[in-house]
Amino acid sequence: MFELFTKKEPNILKYLNADVHTHLLPGVDDGVKDLETALSCINEMKLNGIKKIYVTPHFQTHRFKNDEDDIRCRFDELKKQVEAYIPGIELQLAGEYLIDSGFEERLQSKKLLTINDKYLLVEFSFNQSMLGMEELFFEMQMKGYEVILAHPERYLYLNKDSKLMHNLKEQGVYFQSNIMSFGGFYGSESMKRAYQYVDNGWINFLGTDIHGKKYRDALVDVCKKSKFQKLLKKNTFLNNQL
Ligand SMILES: [Fe+2]
Repeated sequence: MFELFTKKEPNILKYLNADVHTHLLPGVDDGVKDLETALSCINEMKLNGIKKIYVTPHFQTHRFKNDEDDIRCRFDELKKQVEAYIPGIELQLAGEYLIDSGFEERLQSKKLLTINDKYLLVEFSFNQSMLGMEELFFEMQMKGYEVILAHPERYLYLNKDSKLMHNLKEQGVYFQSNIMSFGGFYGSESMKRAYQYVDNGWINFLGTDIHGKKYRDALVDVCKKSKFQKLLKKNTFLNNQL
């Protein structure tokens, strides 16, 4: 079935106001490669109605070994540039933490970078499931974090109605879907799941998870799709409470 495009609605992301998931620190992990790309992405997000952006670099034990203090310095530099070149956009720093073998130690040993000093954005591996997730999420909650699971529609090794997803929802875990999932950027199965999870009432937040130009262009495309525009108008997400 083909997707209908509507008339131009340039500010469609005003329904969200804030983007809670981005990789916009130049040269950091697999995020945008340079400042020019960061500014171009941020400008496009602004044109589509975003007013506040949470920058969420990866924190992983093996692949992306970012350090919070170094990240804070890089964030301050980006913020200065954005204030100079794209006024009217607010930038805030948080992180996206991978649940891996070193995560529990990190959780116990330091204060993690959160959204509004409250929400902890975490992701699962894309390759395999890990046991004991319910207990680990409970531990995070006991430490005072409101936990957001990033892009549940992208863990295709899990059954789409997996017991784990149901259990996490029952346990009060928030879910965040990627905006570009609704345009098929990650494939048809992720797109199907994204729409289904919204229908289930499971998705509390949306984010771009933008990493560079390819993502920026996909964002522009999905914002033009009538089905996605309807979804934004019909559902309330917590983004606009931030
Ligand atoms: Fe991400």
